[in-house]
Amino acid sequence: MQSAGRRERHEGIPLGESVTITDNRTGKSIEVPIVNGGVDSSEWAKLLPGVWFYDPSFGNTASTSSAITYLDGEEGVLRYRGYPIEQLAEKSTYLEVAYLLIHGELPTPVQYEEWKHQITTHTYIHEHVRKRFLEGFHYDAHPMGMLTSSIAALSTFYPEAKDIEDPANRMRQIIRLIAKLPTLAAGAHRYSVGMPFVYPDNNIDFQTNFLSMMFRVAEPTFECDPRLSRALDILFILHADHEQNCSTTAARVVGSSQADPYSAMAAACAALYGPLHGGANEAVLRMLTEIGSYDNIDAFIESVKAGKGRLMGFGHRVYKSYDPRAKIIKQAAYDVFEVTGKNPLLDIALKLEETALNDPYFIERKLYPNVDFYSGLIYQAMGFPVEMFTVLFAIPRVSGWLSHWQEMLEQKSRIARPRQLYTGVDERDYVAINARQ
Ligand code: CMC
Repeated sequence: MQSAGRRERHEGIPLGESVTITDNRTGKSIEVPIVNGGVDSSEWAKLLPGVWFYDPSFGNTASTSSAITYLDGEEGVLRYRGYPIEQLAEKSTYLEVAYLLIHGELPTPVQYEEWKHQITTHTYIHEHVRKRFLEGFHYDAHPMGMLTSSIAALSTFYPEAKDIEDPANRMRQIIRLIAKLPTLAAGAHRYSVGMPFVYPDNNIDFQTNFLSMMFRVAEPTFECDPRLSRALDILFILHADHEQNCSTTAARVVGSSQADPYSAMAAACAALYGPLHGGANEAVLRMLTEIGSYDNIDAFIESVKAGKGRLMGFGHRVYKSYDPRAKIIKQAAYDVFEVTGKNPLLDIALKLEETALNDPYFIERKLYPNVDFYSGLIYQAMGFPVEMFTVLFAIPRVSGWLSHWQEMLEQKSRIARPRQLYTGVDERDYVAINARQ
């Protein structure tokens, strides 16, 4: 209901590009402009101090403005800094994409060479990180737990990282983090399988170096089929950023307290670990293995519809049509299987997808395969153990987290501090323990 009298109007708002909010208790109303698809909550607060938006999980809240990634969930569109994900996956490399995310533009040839040089020469980790942290874990520690903790531990090795106001200092930490994550990840894996640590080889490219640290045994120089390193590169491009997802939000929230970037990235990594986020690729593989054969698919789908678990790798908070990353990954899977042979779980995945996409339950809820549905099949065919799948998500996502962390600092954001709607008991007097029932 709109009140005629006491209405504050914003001059210059184009007709139709605003909303009018009326407080029916007082009859006051305010006109708030819609800018970039959002309304400024501080305008709302002027009219309604002490009345909060109730938005658990932030489904309808823009926590920031951002110029990094554009996502249209209805149309299945994803762009980094304006470049369509399909073009980047086809033509670019992960390191170039990382540069794009961090710097806002694709590098020139000179900038790209310098960037690669910087990343390559920061891949080593302090021996204590390896010997005392990675090798201090229990023998069956999950590599995501190891990765999260060792990223946090790095902050103690680079105390100067606390100086977040200095752009050059920030860039040093950004380069270190992008460069060292593959080394930490591979180190966690080698330890968990009882294999000796493989030091980075600065003479080979980023992807091959990572595969070398993961899988090298006794060969003098590690070699792998370029189709596999390219597939990994494509997967890294697709995972590099995804605007304000759970882990990026964690990075921004922790970063908003002006914590150092290692602490903020460790928080993001912890958020990624969960099965509803980056942990879904691992959960998909376990689900496909459990289903085991075509004959069990219908019963599995029925159990999901009955609320006994979720179809992992399906559904997304934002995408309400096919996740564009899933399309590219599905194609990449076939390219990898040409080298490795087909993953026997592929047929189950294809049939499961077909069954779900034709089922009214999934159609009505607009549930489509997401990035995690096919990625695990590729990783498994390449020889990665299931526990490493979420780690493989974290390695490239750190460039997205860092670009958001940097953007947040440049926006001079305030500390993240949401409100709550208190629903607990009213004030009451303390009761001595012996007097309690
Ligand atoms: N299987 C079965 N039902 C589902 C699924 C699923 N995978 N996802 C959502 N639904 C149903 C849900 O039960 C609800 O039904 P109803 O309206 O009857 O209660 C409806 O769809 C809406 O679900 P929601 O939980 O409100 O959706 P959300 O936006 O909160 O959750 C999600 C998004 C990704 C957490 C969820 O779809 C999910 O749990 N998917 C499986 C896990 C997964 O694949 N995660 C990876 C996400 S993509 C990579 C990443 O960003 O990390």
